[in-house]
Amino acid sequence: MSLLDRRFLFVVGKGGVGKSAVATSIAVAAASRGKRTLLAMVECKERVSEFLGVAPIGPHVVRNVRPNLDAVNMVPEVALEEYGMMILKVRALYKLIFENRLVRAFLDGVPGMASWSMLGKAFFHASPPSGPPEYDLVVVDAQATGHALEMLRVPVVIQKVAPPGLLRREADRALELFRDPRQSGMVLVTLPEDMPTNETLELHAALTAELSLPIGALVVNRVLPELVHPHEADRFEALPSLLGADSPALDLARAARTRSLRERVQRESFERLASITAPRVDIRDFISPELGPREIEEMSRIFLAR
Ligand SMILES: Nc1ncnc2c1ncn2[C@@H]1O[C@H](COP(=O)(O)OP(=O)(O)OP(=O)(O)O)[C@@H](O)[C@H]1O
Ligand SMILES: [Mg+2]
Repeated sequence: MSLLDRRFLFVVGKGGVGKSAVATSIAVAAASRGKRTLLAMVECKERVSEFLGVAPIGPHVVRNVRPNLDAVNMVPEVALEEYGMMILKVRALYKLIFENRLVRAFLDGVPGMASWSMLGKAFFHASPPSGPPEYDLVVVDAQATGHALEMLRVPVVIQKVAPPGLLRREADRALELFRDPRQSGMVLVTLPEDMPTNETLELHAALTAELSLPIGALVVNRVLPELVHPHEADRFEALPSLLGADSPALDLARAARTRSLRERVQRESFERLASITAPRVDIRDFISPELGPREIEEMSRIFLAR
């Protein structure tokens, strides 16, 4: 089933691997297909506005950064108030409940409440407790692995420890949506390198075995085209040592060796990542210092074609 036909996608991976670029491309693809889409970043140094060539995106939803595409960079304080308002509908009631000193102290004191305010808000946009959702698809551009996992664990904890009531009902509803592979998907982003691959395999285990969440796709970002045939790798890598220190070809031989080694690591990463059965999406390395609208457009076409 296509990623873009789901209602809730959670883009996750190691720091700096391209989560925001991937989340933006998926959101752009869905919006261009006519789906009302929200790109919800989690408290990040916001690069999405540069990717899209628009003004910086703050903690309140910015409408129509592209046709059908809204975006927000969530922060807990604003998200908590908005989420409280969405659930309770009435500001007076919100004030009564959330600004009550005891409740406030409870919220501030409960680890995970800040995370839940943001995840809950993103969830609400995909699936309000009543009435039709405002968006067809919500794409969460999550924080790096550890924090993202903590965020996803919160509804499970709420389910276990919260007394029956509003909060628990919302956590139940959220987990039902998140765990339904027809409606939701975790999008794992990685690089074809050693450390990111290790982290991705661990993340995958936590998401599936521990949290029972469906994996919508494995995105391998910054993939290099193979220039060195595996059978020739040893010869390429031995080149510098075959040349004398004064050889004019030494720099070239070293570059060939470096490239071959990188491709070797990439091949090994692909082999190890094969244990993840979700559809794999490869994205090329653009070899440009910063991504902009053109690169995001190219990436989004890859998701449109899936
Ligand atoms: N395929 C690519 N080719 C070239 N550069 C890329 C590619 N993907 C991402 N980048 C660059 O890598 C950097 C990190 O990308 P991005 O911000 O999407 O990562 P991130 O995982 O969201 O990072 P963070 O963990 O800081 O939120 C950016 O400078 C981006 O322009
Ligand atoms: Mg990011």
